[in-house]
Amino acid sequence: MPISYNEQLRVFRLDTPRTTYLMGLVGSENFLGHIYYGPTVPDDNMGYLLRLEERPFTPDANAGERASFYDCFPFEYPAWGGGNFRQPCLRLRTAQGGPNCELFYDGHRIISGKPGLEGLPAAYGDNCATLEITLRDPVLDVKIRLLYTVFEDVDAICRSARIENAGGEAVGLDAALSACLELDNEDFDLITLHGSWAREQNMDRRPLASGKQGAFSLRGISSHQFHPFLALCEHTATQERGVVYGMNLVYSGNFLAQAEVDQFNKVRAVLGIHPDGFSWKLEPGQSFQTPETVLVCSDAGLGGMSRAYHDFFREHLIRGQKKHRPSLLNSWEACYFDFDHDKLLQLGREAARYGIELLVVDDGWFGKRDDETTSLGDWQVNEKKLPGGLKRLGEELAAMGVKLGIWMEPEMISPDSDLYRAHPDYAMTIPGRTPTQARSQLVLDLTRKEVRDCIYDQISAVLRSAPIRYLKWDMNRPLIDVYSSALPPDRQGEAAHRYVLGLYELQGRLVDDFPDLLLENCCSGGGRFDAGMLYYSPQIWTSDNAEAVDRLVIQEGTSLIYPLSAMGAHVAACPSHVNGRITPFEVRGRVSLPGCFGYELDIDKLSPEEQTLIPEQLEEYRQYGPVFREGDCYRLASYRENHTYDAIMAVSKDKKTAVVSFVQVRSRAYRRSLRLKLTGLEETALYRRKDTDEVRSGAGWMWGGLLMEAVQSDYLTALTVLERV
Ligand code: DGJ
Repeated sequence: MPISYNEQLRVFRLDTPRTTYLMGLVGSENFLGHIYYGPTVPDDNMGYLLRLEERPFTPDANAGERASFYDCFPFEYPAWGGGNFRQPCLRLRTAQGGPNCELFYDGHRIISGKPGLEGLPAAYGDNCATLEITLRDPVLDVKIRLLYTVFEDVDAICRSARIENAGGEAVGLDAALSACLELDNEDFDLITLHGSWAREQNMDRRPLASGKQGAFSLRGISSHQFHPFLALCEHTATQERGVVYGMNLVYSGNFLAQAEVDQFNKVRAVLGIHPDGFSWKLEPGQSFQTPETVLVCSDAGLGGMSRAYHDFFREHLIRGQKKHRPSLLNSWEACYFDFDHDKLLQLGREAARYGIELLVVDDGWFGKRDDETTSLGDWQVNEKKLPGGLKRLGEELAAMGVKLGIWMEPEMISPDSDLYRAHPDYAMTIPGRTPTQARSQLVLDLTRKEVRDCIYDQISAVLRSAPIRYLKWDMNRPLIDVYSSALPPDRQGEAAHRYVLGLYELQGRLVDDFPDLLLENCCSGGGRFDAGMLYYSPQIWTSDNAEAVDRLVIQEGTSLIYPLSAMGAHVAACPSHVNGRITPFEVRGRVSLPGCFGYELDIDKLSPEEQTLIPEQLEEYRQYGPVFREGDCYRLASYRENHTYDAIMAVSKDKKTAVVSFVQVRSRAYRRSLRLKLTGLEETALYRRKDTDEVRSGAGWMWGGLLMEAVQSDYLTALTVLERV
């Protein structure tokens, strides 16, 4: 049983295949405290993990004087009040204005399976069990239902909290985070991801310092700047060694990911919706559900944590269209807004010539849109550009064996649009203030059902009008004027979260009504590449920067958490439209291979030599793409760290095939060959290297390594394939 309760010790125990999570009830008051999270410990006598004898840990030992207790107790779900001066997960406001709250155990139950979370993306699975612990504030009669789900097949634990007002008066929530993890600071480093547009998901690793540190977003989206994630790892942890804890939020809006080191050198790590600008009013009988946090612990280094997250997302979060990721040709960098039916057919013929499966018509096919300034919200095809509409285009492409995909930006409205002229109130604006435009557009008030319905009707009409197999759902600005005309003043603090809930409802309807549609989310590249969006779309456009060298870094950061099957990766035009760099076609192809592969250029403008490489690239994608996307990934070398070369390896789950993708970005004067130590193979099995026929045992390849010859040249790449004999 992966979940149990030891009545004698009053300890809850959760077991994943390789980890244990323990919580206990403490004192006569029944505080719920964190005891242990880490590699599996035996179930013999967990008493040694409790520090019951230690003052001021136990309130009883303090003769009822709670201040020092609150100051150091490792709460499972800390609330503001009682002397808890560290970051709370919960902060309440009563009609009288008092923020104090104290939470005591009120009961628990163990449920087989996993309940869904109302209105929110959430993990699923049959092979799992859920522990629900109820905490209660006896004065306010507010109840917190903490959910912990444990899966049999992955080392991940899902946590969330539901706050219920069981009392007779309204209560305001000023903070309602999803999860808290309290650990002794064992010389930890903190890892977060940071960046900007076109420079997403850079890994930041630094020693934990006293006080608060972490990542956040207040942009209404999970953002390019930070990611709703943090990891704590032993200072000595490497790719494949050392203990690492990860916390990832299944959410796409404002968040706080924070680690706080206190006076006793303990860490309180919290994750959830950012309390700034957030409030939520709970009338008697109402409840609030927080998004879900996915906890992972691995003693196999950063790679171990990544593989646990990859398995978890593939098996328990991503839905539909799990395996096949069609190769595609996207019109954006090929011709931007400058296209008509004939131009798209020409791109379609290019795709057909090479067997590329899908042509994606990016921005510019609707309304009067020839640039960024107009027509968002008017989702009717521009018949001047596309006579016969998407239907004719789709049918002509189908006759060539190419499927049709389109771009939309459904959350937005251009002030220059028929929709805005008819319904200016559909845009989020603050009364009395000039609406803040970004990319010449405003944000639709998705908190309102009539606005969602209006957009949904348009989207579904477009999708039903033509044989459309793929939709790129874009979003190109942050939320700034966060105000909904449909909410009363004392509920305006709910607008940002209600927007995200509206977005989820829209995308949920879409995937339910169009189960065969492949949805790819995008947010000016990776501005909303998060687990919340992954629940609706199995792949996400990783970054507008598809230049190969920068992409190595962006993809390394992204794959720290997300499986390669989630990453849109295209061979883009050269010199790069984003950073001006010239990188060989071969290298651009190799860097894109592990993700959801495509081209984002006009193939006819490539040199004949470059064109001859396309069939090879597509064949590699067909043969080895599935190993990267579905197998176990190992990072062998990081260009981000060594500034010279990069190598990732994937091993199929049955351990029959292994592929190593190597890119030498820069040559280095006077060096010897490189030995890339492989990993993840079966030690005693024999593996044949495909290009040389060399046969060695798995151990031979892992310890002896793959020798990469010292070639004095920038931009070299190699794909090495090993097959089990
Ligand atoms: C931003 C996206 O990230 C690009 O790929 C492209 O679709 C443009 N928007 C179109 O406006």
